[in-house]
Amino acid sequence: MNSSDDRLIIFDTTLRDGEQSPGASMTKEEKIRIAKMLERMRVDVIEAGFPIASVGDFEAVAAVAAAVKEATVCGLARALEKDIDRAGEALRGASSARIHTFIATSPIHMQHKLRMEPDAVVEQAVMAVKRARRYTDDVEFSAEDAGRSDLDFLCRIFDAVIAAGATTLNVPDTVGYNLPGQFGDTIKQLRERIPNSDKVIFSVHCHNDLGLAVANSLSAVCSGARQVECTINGLGERAGNASLEEVVMAVKTRHDVFHCYTNIDTTQIVPSSRLVSGITGFPVQPNKAIVGANAFAHEAGIHQDGVLKSRETYEIMRAEDVGWSANRMVLGKHSGRNAFKARLLELGIEFDSTDALNSAFSRFKELADKKHEVFDDDLQALATTTFSEEGGKEALKLLSLKVCSESGEVPHAVVTLSVDGEEAQGEATGGGPVDAALRAIDSIVASGTELLLYSVNNITSGTDSQGEVTIRLGKEGKIVNGQGADTDIVIASAMAYLNGLNKINSGDFRLRPQGGDV
Ligand code: KIV
Ligand code: ZN
Repeated sequence: MNSSDDRLIIFDTTLRDGEQSPGASMTKEEKIRIAKMLERMRVDVIEAGFPIASVGDFEAVAAVAAAVKEATVCGLARALEKDIDRAGEALRGASSARIHTFIATSPIHMQHKLRMEPDAVVEQAVMAVKRARRYTDDVEFSAEDAGRSDLDFLCRIFDAVIAAGATTLNVPDTVGYNLPGQFGDTIKQLRERIPNSDKVIFSVHCHNDLGLAVANSLSAVCSGARQVECTINGLGERAGNASLEEVVMAVKTRHDVFHCYTNIDTTQIVPSSRLVSGITGFPVQPNKAIVGANAFAHEAGIHQDGVLKSRETYEIMRAEDVGWSANRMVLGKHSGRNAFKARLLELGIEFDSTDALNSAFSRFKELADKKHEVFDDDLQALATTTFSEEGGKEALKLLSLKVCSESGEVPHAVVTLSVDGEEAQGEATGGGPVDAALRAIDSIVASGTELLLYSVNNITSGTDSQGEVTIRLGKEGKIVNGQGADTDIVIASAMAYLNGLNKINSGDFRLRPQGGDV
């Protein structure tokens, strides 16, 4: 880094735009965990949610605002008084708060969505920014669908919101329509044509519909954008947003081109990716840049030979610089509670209560008995299970599960649950052992849910790896992800199903009447 280099602000919107991916909804506790991880990674701004959207969103933004001390916490608001007031209220406890207000500026959005004339749009944007300034000096204005907006109109509205007090101007390619050269040119033109452009930070927010979100963001950085909005693993609405890890590592690796730097602790990238993937149940494709399992694997003999002679032959980044080395053996069955707690703290995992720590520790001991080597990723999964249990009411608990699976026979499961403290037993057959186990649970609980996704991933390599199961459930428009991890994937599946049921029903269960349908 040179002293003349600019700082590139990293604005993470995993908790807001990321959560808008169908099926990626997160609980308040999960959002706090991710926010703390982002803070640990030294993200500058964390967009925690859209407070007016629901009571749950409001509470999550308020909880993140209270939990995060180092980063700025941001709440999204349409350019409406009620939205801005709600965002201001949710952010009251933040050490550093930003309100991000937006209104659409493209002809197609103004005409068909807003049904407003351009003059009225400018007036409303100015009103929104002024109102947001009542709550904080840090106000971001976004011209939604800027990528398809008229440049003269963008100059006009940005000029007006600067005068009204906006400190960051965001240029979203909302529908992922732009191409890198074109988008970079838009930023250049805006900076040249808006009189007070040097008084504000230009930001970009690119969607990935044509697979160009990162390329467009980087082109904008070359043209002087100094904030990039992005998400872990590129999560986000439709095809997603620009991926944080790709933007950060491109700027770092090609410093010769970008002449700017981020404050990100890149060694936290892989742990953050794993955490977000575990919580949302969105697996990371193996060939995903930076965080995919194969991103640093050299298969071809000629590559392996080259890397052994000199790693720069085929590697432009070091795996350990993005956190891959974190997956080392840490603890064994003789490790004590203090060593366990210390390692969790190093991973950024902290339990609120001694009960939660104790329950995580007894899980760890059980795991260490089954598996000789306990890795950091195992600890992350174990923490996810413990946090889920602590966060919800956990009306349903798995007491025991017995499954018989034999070639030529129909799998049969018997499950014993605790339902609000009462023991209940059910049994069922199924197409396979997992199906039988889940049906046995259904024979006890009338959940009324629809299974939207079932996925299982190995946490580490080896046949003694824990299987991490995600089960996505839907009910009356609500979607949740249940997680479970165990060296036995049938048990992990039952745990994930119960975790999902606990979340979706928030402890409110109807037992199936004996022998009848509900
Ligand atoms: O994609 C978009 O335009 C947005 C805005 C709210 C910034 O997410
Ligand atoms: Zn977006």
